[in-house]
This record gives sequence, C-alpha cells and structure tokens, in this order.
Amino acid sequence: MIGLCFHRLFLVLAAALAVVPVAVLAADQYTRADFPVDFVFGSGLSAYQYEGAAFKDGRTPSIWDTFSHSDRANGTNGDITCDGYHKYKEDIKLMSEMGLEAFRLSISWARLIPDGRGSVNPLGLQFYNNFIDELIRHGIQPHVSLHHHDLPQALEDEYEGWISRKIVKDFTAYADVCFREFGNRVLYWTTVNEANIFALGGYDLGIIPPGRCSSSVSNACSGGNSSTEPYIVGHNILLAHSATAKLYKKTYQVIQKGYIGFSIYNMWMVPYTNAKEDVTATERAIDYYIGWLINPLMFGDYPEIVKKNAGTRIPAFTEDESKQVKDSIDFIGVNHYTTNFVKDNPSYLPMDNRDFDADMAIQLIYEKGDTPPGQFPIMPWGLYELLEYLKQVYGNPAVYVHENGQVTPRNGTLEDSSRAEYLHAYIGSLLDAVRNGSNTKGYFVWSLLDCLELLNGFESGFGMYYVDLNDKDLKRYEKLSGLWYTNFLKGNNVNPLDLTLAGDKLSGFLR
Ligand code: NOJ
Repeated sequence: MIGLCFHRLFLVLAAALAVVPVAVLAADQYTRADFPVDFVFGSGLSAYQYEGAAFKDGRTPSIWDTFSHSDRANGTNGDITCDGYHKYKEDIKLMSEMGLEAFRLSISWARLIPDGRGSVNPLGLQFYNNFIDELIRHGIQPHVSLHHHDLPQALEDEYEGWISRKIVKDFTAYADVCFREFGNRVLYWTTVNEANIFALGGYDLGIIPPGRCSSSVSNACSGGNSSTEPYIVGHNILLAHSATAKLYKKTYQVIQKGYIGFSIYNMWMVPYTNAKEDVTATERAIDYYIGWLINPLMFGDYPEIVKKNAGTRIPAFTEDESKQVKDSIDFIGVNHYTTNFVKDNPSYLPMDNRDFDADMAIQLIYEKGDTPPGQFPIMPWGLYELLEYLKQVYGNPAVYVHENGQVTPRNGTLEDSSRAEYLHAYIGSLLDAVRNGSNTKGYFVWSLLDCLELLNGFESGFGMYYVDLNDKDLKRYEKLSGLWYTNFLKGNNVNPLDLTLAGDKLSGFLR
C-alpha cells in the first residue's frame, strides 16, 4: 500500500504485463519443521498503532499524534485504538494460544521520556517492563523497535526533530535508557523502523508524520523542503542509528548478548520490459529504495547514482562518520509487502526543483490483475528475489522479515481467505530462499490485530484478529488467517482453502 502512494504521479494499474517475471515457485507443501530450529516466527504491532492511552500516565504527544489530529489525516487517531496499554495481557494470551514464538513491538519514546530527553516516566517504564515480562512469561521473544514514526513532539517543536543533528544525541540517550532498563530481557533491537519510508513519506510527500513537504508537492503541508529534507533526515537517521549501535556494542552487547539492526521498507522491483532503459531504471530504483540507506551501513557510503542525482542536496559522510556507519548492524529488518514493475522516466531529471522521487526518475507499475480492490496482489516470488538480492549484494547478512502481510478493507469479515493464502504463499517463498542459503532468521506477520493503519486510520487492516471498535471492550475475533497461522505454528500442514472458521466463532462475531 505504501508503494502505491509513493508514486503519486505515475501510478498505473496494468492488467497485462509486458514482462513475465522469473518463475520461482514457492514451496507449497511445508511445515514449521522445514525451517531451521532457531528461525523465529512472530507477529507485531507498533506503539502508536496499538497502545492507545495517549494522554494517560504522563505520556506526551508524538509527531504521529499531531499528524493524526491534523487535517492531513482522515479524522481517525490512536487516542484509544486497540487499547493495548490496558489489554496487553489479554493479547499476549492470544499470542500464546496462537503459538507465536516472537512479538515485534515498539517503545513509545514519548511515553518513556515525555520531554524527549531528561527524566524517565516511571509509569511508562513500568508499562514496558510489565509488557516485556508478560511476553517472556509466555515464552515469546520480544523484538523491539525504538522509533516507529513517533518522535516526541517536544523534540519536533524544539529543533525540528530529525532535520537537526541534535537528534543524534537525544536518540542515543533514549536508546541508552532502553538498553539499560530492558536489555537484560530484550535481545533484538531495531533502531528505526522503515527509515526510508519515514524520510520519503514524512519529508518528501508529506503523507505520513511529520507531514512535511514543499508546496510544489502538496499544498497541504505546513512546511518542508522535499528537495533536501528527505536526504538530510536519511543522513541523520544513519548517524543516530550508528551512534546508538556503537553505544550498544561497546557497553551492552558483551553482557546482554543481543543484536542491533536497522529496518527499511523493501518492495521488490522488476523491469516492466526487457528494454535496456527499464532494466537500468530498475537497478536505479533498487539503489534508491534499498541502497540509499543500506549501502552506507554495509559499504560506508551512498550509491554513486544517488549521490550523482542529488548533488549537493545529499549530505556527504566525513571519514569518521563513514567508519562509524559502516558495519553498525547485526541484521537488516525488511518490511516487504509486494512487487512493482519499473519503467524508465527520464523526463524528471532536467527539472530544477527535484525531490527524491524525481531524482529516482522511474515510473512504478503496480500489477493488480484480478486482485480484489484494496488488497495486494500475491507475488511471493518477489520476497524470494529480494532475499536473494540481499544475500548476493551484501554478502548474506542476517535478515529478519519484520513485516509481511495482506491488507484488506476493514469491513469486519473474519473469513479473510486471501490473507491466509497470502501468508501461505509468502512463507513458502521464504522457505525457498532459506533453502537456497539466505541468512534470514525470522519472519513476523504484520499484524496481529487490526489497529490504526499508518496511511488510512481504520479504513483498512492487516490483522489476523479483528477488533470490534464499536464494542466497549474492543473485543478481538480470530480470523481465518489467524487460524491458518496457528495451524502452521503448531506444526500442521494445512491448505488455507481447506480451512473454515468454527460456526460458534462466527456466530459470536455476528452477535
Ligand atoms: C509499515 C509500518 O511499519 C506499519 O506501521 C504499517 O502499519 C504497515 N507497514 C502497513 O502499512
């Protein structure tokens, strides 16, 4: 869905394709036991999307609260959402019944350190301690992100947040609190969730928090500069990430024995035609979506094409910065949903007022085929090819698929067979990649519950459980996809098409 939005000007829905992708058949018959024993299967949610209790116990607003209460959003917000702040024990029970081995959560910086820096909120600390303890009590590994689109608004107001280098010190100090307080139980840390989309969506297109962009991109943004800010923010994120990783590796890792990684949004991309221009455009798009932030972490600098097209608009690394950024990750976190086809679009490059999107100079073609409206086409081979690419280009680093799942309109149906089929197909493709040597170590379905969605609030959902927002207890209902994942986690080999939800569950839902 994010991929859809990111190419606002050039979105084409093509029913027929000029190029047939490389055929990779996803494993169809498999069980949990086909994966290595230390591979983890989980699911996830993020703080602002899940917790609610936005004004409770000392929490202050984040940039996501501000964004979702502004005209930029669609009138829905995370004030209450799934009320995870009060209902996490009930949800962890569901996770345990499901057989989840790991859960990916994020910490709300504004709940833990309400001013962004300085004193720790004891009630925030207690909440995350309780949450983590409850997961561990149920044998579920916590995987924690420190920033999931939700910088404390206090720091945005004070120095424009990620645009300023001041963020590096404050982010590191916040991470220090997290490592000190939770690191004896949390072994998997991600500094920034889908950093590329945060920079693009938040500072080029202005469609996600903090909603900044140039007036030439949209009149709705109240400030911003789409030509420069995405690159500055990307740079500051890398500096903050690497300073934090340095701290973790020097002070905590030897004792706590955990891992620290970085996450990006990774749709896969293939040429629309065999024409040389489209093939080169695809390489360029991959350099922008993946290489922009991953090359510095693996090789110490941005891809040549990104530097060439952005010129002086992208900050240059000093020698010391490059050294610090390089090799600062133990794993790459991948958020993967779908695959797009790429066409060359050279008309962008002569423009004076270019942004990241124009620098990339491509047209994305999103093949929907007969996919029902509001859903992703099921293209599991894209995940296989993406994992192969990471293996070959970056020397087979450890990878966690942090997000993968099907979006559907939030219409209350529990019979989400398209989500069950999607999961079955993508996990099969993941198995192919692992069998072919990919160092992927874990997979998290996005998401456990239908909570607040990043782009459209409560209009769509990714959940394996439906949450009835009209019920005062926000009752959770297992969907067919949840039943399929439960079966998979318990070692069964079930074709999603053979599953039905028990009548009592459905009648409970229909009330
Ligand atoms: C990206 C984000 O990490 C998450 O917050 C969002 O809900 C999903 N992907 C789906 O859009």
